[in-house]
Amino acid sequence: MLGNFEYCNPTKLYFGEDSLNYLNTELSKYGDNIVLIYGGGSIKKNGIYDDVCRILKDNGKNVAEISGVMPNPTLEKLYEGVEIARNHHADLLLAVGGGSVCDYAKAVSVSVNCQEDPWEKYYLRFEEPDCETLPVGCVLTMVGTGSEMNAGAVITNHETKLKIGHVFADEKVMPRFSILNPKYTLTLPHYQMVAGIYDIFNHICEQYFSGEDDNTSDYISEGLMRSLLHSSRIANKDPQNYEARSNIMWTATWALNTLVAKGKSTDWMVHMLGQSVGAYTDATHGMTLAAVSLPYYRYIMPYGLAKFKRFAVNVWDVDPAGKSDGQIAEEGLKAMESWMKELGLVMNISELGATEEMLDGIADGTLIMEGGYKVLDRDEVKEILKESM
Ligand code: NZQ
Ligand code: ZN
Repeated sequence: MLGNFEYCNPTKLYFGEDSLNYLNTELSKYGDNIVLIYGGGSIKKNGIYDDVCRILKDNGKNVAEISGVMPNPTLEKLYEGVEIARNHHADLLLAVGGGSVCDYAKAVSVSVNCQEDPWEKYYLRFEEPDCETLPVGCVLTMVGTGSEMNAGAVITNHETKLKIGHVFADEKVMPRFSILNPKYTLTLPHYQMVAGIYDIFNHICEQYFSGEDDNTSDYISEGLMRSLLHSSRIANKDPQNYEARSNIMWTATWALNTLVAKGKSTDWMVHMLGQSVGAYTDATHGMTLAAVSLPYYRYIMPYGLAKFKRFAVNVWDVDPAGKSDGQIAEEGLKAMESWMKELGLVMNISELGATEEMLDGIADGTLIMEGGYKVLDRDEVKEILKESM
């Protein structure tokens, strides 16, 4: 492993069917004013809302709510939530939902005491908070983003058509605790489940496809990918399979809680392409990634051939005997493609609502990252988007 790094992840996790009980333990650590944050209402249908509210009541908490946090939370919604949290003198932001709700809670956390416009400070200038932030706790109901154990917070600005994620360097932005009950994910529609599975897979790829040194992170990544492939096939056929769903939930957390990025430059171009597609279409995050991935990976493969060959053999069990490196690598991507189709992922951006007329705007909104095997220019971004149509 080359390079220097530091590692600290302060989020406390409670995992399993009984994990919500630990909310009692956590609530005792904070003041009485809680802001409960949730999405469009799935938690009211599946009973999680009632269970959480009962625990809040038993602990004598004074609760305000921010409801209706949409998938791909918007800047307007952030401004609204900041007002609610300020007026309630919040001691804890309790996010109950998927990545959108958890991300949003972190964005509110860094904005409540911020004297400047949070969009400009955090999303355009990528600065760290220099004000007091509010603690965030999560009860996770959708699996994929890893938001439950990282400092990422993605916000969409519809006015400027930019969807930007800030992964804060300041570890106090990470949730103080997260409650992971795999049972909560069993009510997810199939579309969301598989989008989340692909999001997990791609998080691992984004970190794996970088660097040429011998790195423990790559071996961990291969193990995580193999576990995910195995469990995803079971869950795809039998979504109520608790064992598979619990493994997927745990894999999601480790895919993006900073561990497998250690010692790596990391790529993240699929996410940059996907986020820009998302800014124009408001499509489900994992599907935007699925739709741009293969054109991107086929394009960069020659620049990182050794790694794509290793990916084919170690993750997809491609038999290398008698084949050139290029053939082995391409066979790996073909295996990945058939797995993606088996899950029913969206394989092109036109199905997500992208049109030819949008492509220039999407290309302009794609941030170019420099950690992968090929630093793209704007024309190459446009070509990959065209290919993804
Ligand atoms: O809003 P409700 O009614 O709750 O419905 C949600 C939403 O419509 C539904 N859902 C969630 N849990 C459910 C459920 N439906 C039934 N049963 C349940 N148990 O699922 C829909 C999608 O939820 P959402 O939170 O939007 O999905 P996800 O977890 O994929 O989060 C996506 C957001 O996270 C960002 C994405 O860009 C996007 O904005 N990301 C955050 C990252 C991070 N923090 O590091 C990294 C990721 O790459 C990603 O960019
Ligand atoms: Zn993602």
